[in-house]
Amino acid sequence: MSNKLTNIKIPKYNLNYEIQNNKNIIDASLDKNIKLAYSCKSGICGTCKAKVVSGEINKNNKVNHILNDSEKENNIVLLCQSNGLSREVILELLSPLPRNPKLNKVRELVSEVLGIKYINKSIIELSISVPKRFNYDKKNNNYIKILIPGLENNDKYPIINSLEQENKYNGVINILLNINKNAKANSYFKKSLIQGETLSIKGPYEENNTILPNDKPLLFIVEDNYIIHSLNMIKVLIAHNYTFPIMLICNFENKRDIILLDEMHRLTFINTGFSYKISLTNKDNINNIDRFLYGRTINIISKIFPDLSSHYIVINGKNKFLNENYNKVIQLGAIKNNIKKIL
Ligand code: FES
Repeated sequence: MSNKLTNIKIPKYNLNYEIQNNKNIIDASLDKNIKLAYSCKSGICGTCKAKVVSGEINKNNKVNHILNDSEKENNIVLLCQSNGLSREVILELLSPLPRNPKLNKVRELVSEVLGIKYINKSIIELSISVPKRFNYDKKNNNYIKILIPGLENNDKYPIINSLEQENKYNGVINILLNINKNAKANSYFKKSLIQGETLSIKGPYEENNTILPNDKPLLFIVEDNYIIHSLNMIKVLIAHNYTFPIMLICNFENKRDIILLDEMHRLTFINTGFSYKISLTNKDNINNIDRFLYGRTINIISKIFPDLSSHYIVINGKNKFLNENYNKVIQLGAIKNNIKKIL
């Protein structure tokens, strides 16, 4: 009989904790603030290999081509492709535990609003003060929540400090708020986003990152405000010394909708393997001297990449954007297992 909870034991590291079975063991462990070794979380890299010493896991027929026959016979599994099944599972990890397997402690703090910048009509960049002990992990996407009196606000706001800022952290974090997303939160922000006012925040939360194996060029195809998430992923890859070229193609409708352009530009200096192109779908916005491209990403990628068979591809946008770009990259030879769609 399957259980909703599984007790995971990893004797070598003295770990003994309970996870939910509706998530893979890597994500369920992260929920418990335990970070096991992982990288792609797509069954490609093998970083999360472990031997099941006792107990049962549920592989859900997920990807496991990277395991050879003798590994399968020896109960070696990919933890990112396996959920708990029996009441207890004892594991032996094949990759060492990351140096700091405990994630940063989530805490509540009062912070001061230091600066407010409207990036476009729906996105605000907010600078707030937080003490050094807030100590978010510079190599991972981190988010905070803003506590609003009388309202349960579960939105998470990404920390977008640049990599240089993170190296000499001065007690200021920059976050992005999408004020169109949540009407009730929006009316609170209208009253409270004043320089010098205080905000109650909670965090840092670590995004369950996907770090792709460092073995192929990488193409990001991104739709407007989804750039916030994609750019954070790119920063994480660069911070982990991704050595293959990373190209970002981001589509906006109009020039005035473009956000984080400075940040994209700055990243090209930090990592010469990173480049970006902006495409605009509204032709009226483009003049001859612009460096922007005109058109939808599905038309642009085929001009830049006639063959995508040796790339990882991350597509980040709304459903329609995901599907049309997915079909396009498949037409251009991309391999299904190397494509990641992020909604
Ligand atoms: S195969 Fe599991 S993290 Fe890559």
